[in-house]
Amino acid sequence: MSNGHGIAKIIAALDLPTGEAALRFLEKMVCGTNAGACVPLEYVKVGPRLFALEGRRFVEGLVRDGYKVFLDLKLHDIPNTVAGAVDALAGLGLWALTLHSGGGREMLVAAANARDAAGSAMHLLGVSVLTSVDDATWKSVGGGGSVAETVVLRARLCADAGVDGLVCSPRELEAVRQAVGGALLTVVPGIRPVAGGDDQKRTASAGIAVRNGADYLVVGRPLLAAEDPVLTWKELQRDMEEAETR
Ligand code: C5P
Repeated sequence: MSNGHGIAKIIAALDLPTGEAALRFLEKMVCGTNAGACVPLEYVKVGPRLFALEGRRFVEGLVRDGYKVFLDLKLHDIPNTVAGAVDALAGLGLWALTLHSGGGREMLVAAANARDAAGSAMHLLGVSVLTSVDDATWKSVGGGGSVAETVVLRARLCADAGVDGLVCSPRELEAVRQAVGGALLTVVPGIRPVAGGDDQKRTASAGIAVRNGADYLVVGRPLLAAEDPVLTWKELQRDMEEAETR
C-alpha cells in the first residue's frame, strides 16, 4: 500500500548515553570512517534521556547542523500543562514533537493550538500505543479492546484533533490508512529484521513497514548496536527500496 507521501525515510533514534556519544555516532554515519561510507542521514530522534542530560542547547546544535530533529518526549498531561510545554518547545526549530494520544482530544487540540499560536511549523505526532505493548500488557493496564482496535481509534482521534501524524507499529499501518487515508504522516518504530530479542513486541522489517505504507521508519538499536552501522543503514535502505518498487 502506497503511503501517498513519497519515498519513506529513516529516522535515527539517538538513544545513546551522552550527547558526545550521539555526535560521535553521527560523525561515523554522516562523514564515514569507512572508505566511501556516507549515508544521507537527515532525521534524528532525541529521546528523554538525551534531552534530560543535554537539554535545549544540544537540540539547537543539531538543528544548526542541519538535522531535522524529532523530539520524542511523548507529552501526556492535562491540556493546560501540555499546551505550556508545547509553547516552551515551539521555538526550538524542531521537525516534530510527540504527544501521547491517550491524553484525549482536548489535550491534543490544546497542543495544536499552542503550536499554532507560537507560529511554529513543527509537526505534532500522536503516539498511538507503544510498540513495546502487546495485547496482554494492554489488558493488564486496563485497556479496552485490542491494541489494533485502539490504534485505529486513536488515529481517528489524532486526525480529528488537528495533529499531523501518528506513531504506530508496522503491523497497524494498513488499518490506519484505511481509517484516515493520507490525513496523518505515519512514523513507525519497532523495525527489526527478525522478531524478538528485546522489549519491542509489535515489530516488522523495514521492507514490510514500507510495503504497509510507512512514511518514516524510526530505527535505534539495530543501527546503534551494529558493528558497521553504515552497512546496516544501507541494508535497511535496500530493503525499503525493494519494497517501494513492488
Ligand atoms: O532501539 P529501537 O529501534 O527499538 O528504538 C525505537 C525508538 O522509538 C526508541 O527511541 C523508542 O523510545 C521510540 N518509540 C517506540 N515506540 C513508540 C514510540 C517511540 O519504540 N510507540
